[in-house]
Amino acid sequence: MDHLQWMRGELDRLAAAGQARALTESAPARREGWIIRNGRSMLNLASNHYLGLHHEVNEETLSRWNDYADRIRAESGSGAEMAATAGAVGSEAGKFGEPGGSPIRTGATASRLIVGGDPILGSFEREFAAYKGTEACLLFGSGFMANVGIISALAGRNDLIFSDKYNHASIVDGAILSRAKVFRYRNRDMNHLEQLLRKADPAKHKLVVTDSVFSMDGSIAPLRELVELKERYGAMLMVDEAHSGGVFGLRGEGLAGELGLAQRVDVHMGTFSKAYGCYGAYAAGPALMIDYLINKARSLIYSTALPPMLVYAIRDQWNIIRTEGWRRDALLGKADWLRGELRSAGFDTGDSECHIVPVIVGDNERSLVFGSKLQEAGIAAVPIRPPTVPEGSARIRLTPMATHRDDDLRMALDTIVSIGLELGVI
Ligand SMILES: Cc1ncc(COP(=O)(O)O)c(C=O)c1O
Repeated sequence: MDHLQWMRGELDRLAAAGQARALTESAPARREGWIIRNGRSMLNLASNHYLGLHHEVNEETLSRWNDYADRIRAESGSGAEMAATAGAVGSEAGKFGEPGGSPIRTGATASRLIVGGDPILGSFEREFAAYKGTEACLLFGSGFMANVGIISALAGRNDLIFSDKYNHASIVDGAILSRAKVFRYRNRDMNHLEQLLRKADPAKHKLVVTDSVFSMDGSIAPLRELVELKERYGAMLMVDEAHSGGVFGLRGEGLAGELGLAQRVDVHMGTFSKAYGCYGAYAAGPALMIDYLINKARSLIYSTALPPMLVYAIRDQWNIIRTEGWRRDALLGKADWLRGELRSAGFDTGDSECHIVPVIVGDNERSLVFGSKLQEAGIAAVPIRPPTVPEGSARIRLTPMATHRDDDLRMALDTIVSIGLELGVI
């Protein structure tokens, strides 16, 4: 294995810089908002499971999904054909354990452009588009795949991309893959963006792309100004609602929905992996945009579709998200309280203004020590280091959940304050 030794050198370099990464195991604990990590129960301040939604797949769930799948299949016209293929009598396909089997499939077996999509995908896309206030919607395998696919479809070699400096890695990678010329504007700095747009060749296609909530800072993009700028300079605007979907908007539609800007954003992207507690992602926008993505987004065209079974789970979570507004109120209320207390204690929480609350520590090594002391005290919270955040701004990223108990958060606050004092962070 001599030819792999160069990797050892690079791993050693990362370790020396306090940037080594390793996988850990964690499983949900019985107590709400806690996890079992390394065999120990810990308060979970480390996830994107903001709303605390659970999904238990049991007999009742499966039977409900099965009935729903039958209905969708019948509406789509595929019910009678599947029943006939299975040799079932009449126009209904078999139920669970009967000829025809369950219509709920775990795997999509190929790209939708090859084998065709399970009817649940199209059906959910239509419902979800109506909810987002857009004409159409398109499901992707994951948020990373959605960003890479959408951005490289919308911009090519002769085009221009304007991307916020703090955008997620999948946006950065999508922009690299597009081969377009990329301008990174200073985080949320609309003057800088405007300067860049003003200088740009008016004849070129322009794509402005932003996270709605910046995932390591908990700051919020100035969407109104972004919409005005993109309209003034004839650019397209893409908004990544990974961290705002489910959290903002009267029914969890996201930030653009909350601000009444759904129709003025060209492409909304979001994930079902965070507040939704599932997996998968979507692009939503005008029918023309979605049609274009179906033809051009390579991570959709050349990859197996989202497993249909997951869409049933996503839809269940979505029903809770739409109706249980108390989860949003509780999440934002608890985060406000935590941030206020941390600031009063002297911590630097940066530009946080919503449910993601960083405690900025600065030095990589110190953030690692802070993280491991928190773990020892029964709190799971991750140190975030460069290159995920700028050099010198290593931090502990705290993410409360709607379902956290107040006394648990109070315990976490007291612990963070005492470690902060011990390490000289405050
Ligand atoms: C802003 C943002 N966009 C996209 C993604 C990728 O989404 P997923 O985890 O569903 O692949 C993430 C996940 O960390 C994210 O924070």
